[in-house]
Amino acid sequence: MPAIVLVGAQWGDEGKGKATDLLGGSVDYVVKFNGGNNAGHTVVIERDGRREKYALHLLPSGILSPNCTPVIGNGVVIDISVLFEELDGLQSRGIDTSRLLVSANAHVIPSYNRTLDKVTERFLGSRRIGTTGRGIGPTYADKMNRTGIRVQDLYDEKILRHKVEAALAFKNQVLAKIYNRRAIDPDEVVGELLRHADRLAPMVADTSLVLAQALDRGETVLFEAGQATLLDVDHGTYPYVTSSNATAGGACTGSGVPPTRVDSVIAILKAYTTRVGEGPFPTELHDEMGAFLRDTGAEYGVTTGRPRRCGWLDVVIGRYATRVNGVTDFVITKLDILTGLETIPVCVAYDVDGVRHDEMPVNQTDFHHATPVYEHLDGWSEDITGCRRFEDLPANARAYVLRVEQLVGARVSAIGVGPGRDEIIERFPLRPHGAQHTE
Ligand code: GDP
Ligand code: IMO
Ligand code: MG
Repeated sequence: MPAIVLVGAQWGDEGKGKATDLLGGSVDYVVKFNGGNNAGHTVVIERDGRREKYALHLLPSGILSPNCTPVIGNGVVIDISVLFEELDGLQSRGIDTSRLLVSANAHVIPSYNRTLDKVTERFLGSRRIGTTGRGIGPTYADKMNRTGIRVQDLYDEKILRHKVEAALAFKNQVLAKIYNRRAIDPDEVVGELLRHADRLAPMVADTSLVLAQALDRGETVLFEAGQATLLDVDHGTYPYVTSSNATAGGACTGSGVPPTRVDSVIAILKAYTTRVGEGPFPTELHDEMGAFLRDTGAEYGVTTGRPRRCGWLDVVIGRYATRVNGVTDFVITKLDILTGLETIPVCVAYDVDGVRHDEMPVNQTDFHHATPVYEHLDGWSEDITGCRRFEDLPANARAYVLRVEQLVGARVSAIGVGPGRDEIIERFPLRPHGAQHTE
């Protein structure tokens, strides 16, 4: 029965939170499968006649839908105090968070990895990645290095202490001898983690089993990615990436639900491109057009507040996202931000040292040298925020969507025309067939 994966097609902040929230009312589970509180997903909903904004970092956006069970899968890295802060924040606004399930196999972010993330970036100077400083990279590195701390370790103090001491025996040397920082006391770290154990205990579950049983019962599961295709550690613009698999395959490894159960893959594509942090970005605009997109689109990070780098839509990236994620449906977001432009450039290929590339260059050096080849589409001036059917859009806006659809190679099923829950055009149903659940 339906398992749907929802991913970002570009470098993040495409509007995954809004799209997940849109589907939240018709699915039974929403699962976060990668990343941690480096993500920032904004959802704007009407409650009691007022427009309310929610910024979610660690929790899946499904938490805002009353009948949907939110799940944090094994592929996520958890900063437990941030998790509790987020839960408290939602509870104080009247949101029921009691159904949250957390995988016993998810890794936790100990405070020493936040410290290491920040000091490493400072040490790298001009070679820095521009991370969010939340300890994400060092925690995934520990996981792969088999020195990580898992949620289940909080319930065996002896093992927890052993693991923290072993990790710090090495990390304290690095902190003191390379970064000239004070050593961290293992007792402090153990105490901090144990303080959270009791409150977390009722949420801890074998989430792979829970999801398998739900799918067997015919219920619907939505996987919500953090980050995006080009931030994926394997398929992104390495090393300027995050440290997890944000592409569709990550939904399986990050949840314990096998690929044979996935029915569709929805990719969120912003009508232009943004990026936070360092790394190559062929269509980036350093002029007043970049400033226009940033100001009109309110492109400032939800997690760090950093201004996002802005540029035109790049369909070489869109096509790449279709291929590596197996996209069945695209949601184009923020089409409203392009209103008022006479022509809209769309990058359809790259020129790399005189050679045309229609696909992502396999070598990162070539990608760094890529100059966009633009196709110029006609713009529109009418306000589109009130459009709710595809036919309501001005002809040039429709033509823009249809041309992008042709170029990315998968159908555009929905179009965002504003941040609100209802500010969307559903061209084809995104809700899976067979979904039984309604709010
Ligand atoms: P995410 O990380 O992919 O969930 O995206 P973010 O929440 O970081 O950034 C997307 C921003 O765009 C948020 O502020 C959303 O409220 C907003 N947004 C999403 N869809 C639309 C849309 O169609 N139009 C406009 N104007 N804003 C949108
Ligand atoms: P959402 O889910 C945009 C970027 C950081 C940095 C790189 C590595 O909101 O789309 P990390 O702290 O993960 O080690 O940083 O990845 N990054 C994001 N950029 N949106 C995100 O999440 C991001 N999460 C991480 O800016 O360049
Ligand atoms: Mg975001």
